[in-house]
Amino acid sequence: MSNHVQLPRVMEIGEGASAQVATILARLGCNSPLIITDKVMVDLGYAARIGAVLEEAGISYAVFSDTVPEPTESSIIAGVEAFRAGNFDSIIALGGGSPIDSAKAIGILGKFGGNMRDYKFPRDVSESGVPIVAIPTTAGTGSEVTRFTIITDDKVDEKMLCVGLGFMPQAAIIDFTLTLSVPPRVTADTGIDALTHAIEAYVSRKANPFSDCQALSAMRLIAPNLRKVYHTPDDKAAREAMMLGSTLAGMAFSAASVALVHGMSRPIGAFFHVPHGLSNAMLLPHVTAFSIPEATVRYAECARAMGVVSQDTNDDVACQKLVLELQAINQELNVPSMSEFGIDKARYFELCDTMASQAIASGSPGNNPRVPDQETLVSLYHQVWS
Ligand SMILES: [Fe+2]
Repeated sequence: MSNHVQLPRVMEIGEGASAQVATILARLGCNSPLIITDKVMVDLGYAARIGAVLEEAGISYAVFSDTVPEPTESSIIAGVEAFRAGNFDSIIALGGGSPIDSAKAIGILGKFGGNMRDYKFPRDVSESGVPIVAIPTTAGTGSEVTRFTIITDDKVDEKMLCVGLGFMPQAAIIDFTLTLSVPPRVTADTGIDALTHAIEAYVSRKANPFSDCQALSAMRLIAPNLRKVYHTPDDKAAREAMMLGSTLAGMAFSAASVALVHGMSRPIGAFFHVPHGLSNAMLLPHVTAFSIPEATVRYAECARAMGVVSQDTNDDVACQKLVLELQAINQELNVPSMSEFGIDKARYFELCDTMASQAIASGSPGNNPRVPDQETLVSLYHQVWS
């Protein structure tokens, strides 16, 4: 049996890698990029930093900075209009997961038209969109190396998963120095997201020898450094490990899949506007405990890779310690409960059935080692609240 793996054509990885953006564009045969980013990247001077590199190479560009967190279809339409307003041959996606996911959607809609819903899973979007150079500034969603984007249909509050080679950036520039000024809350949320990608890829029913290698390496890098980057933002060695771990975790889940945590997390994000990594964090310990009986050996291996237990610890103890560690990480990184975050309890319970349906429709719960039916999923949503 073989496994199908899709990756960017070019990756530039390490301190100062973003200074290579002009060279990489030239290698892709592009010379007129639109930088797609957000206001924070403009305010922090990161967009100007990339712009200065382009100017020095004689490359003209424009900036679209109106992407929004947890991108919506209406924000994508504005980006498509900006792209079509100029004579651009490529996109530089600069920022956290949201600008990169936005750029992927704009790259497809900008070239082929239509509505985002036309490209929703289970359609396989294999068309080649506008070439994208992705430069992540968080560690992270791994979006720079995945063939996925998530766009919210703001009319019905549904996070639509879109999948295919068309959403894979042509190049990824992995420069951890861009993460040094990320504030602790975002550092924690995006870091737990990356850890979730690695764990879910490793226990996924679609896990394979290639994704296993990336997932285990990612856990070894992320687990010992997650607390460090939260408490000591300027720890360069820890930031570098988190950035590489995030990219490897992205490669892992792009080659395998995510699973139940992400399946349940997207509807919570869509209905209650919880940042993606944070809703994952709220779910991860509980969903892991639910799933362990069907994948004890795999979860035990996660605990060993994360350094939670020694290599000779037996599987049952390793799994127990894994759940305790995930709870401890949430506590130390001040992950709020759903009620502390401000989610309205009555509205949450009212929506559990709809959220369960949306989760199942996304396909992600079907990749989980323990696959819940609609009724079990509703009861899981209930349990997670308490
Ligand atoms: Fe994620």
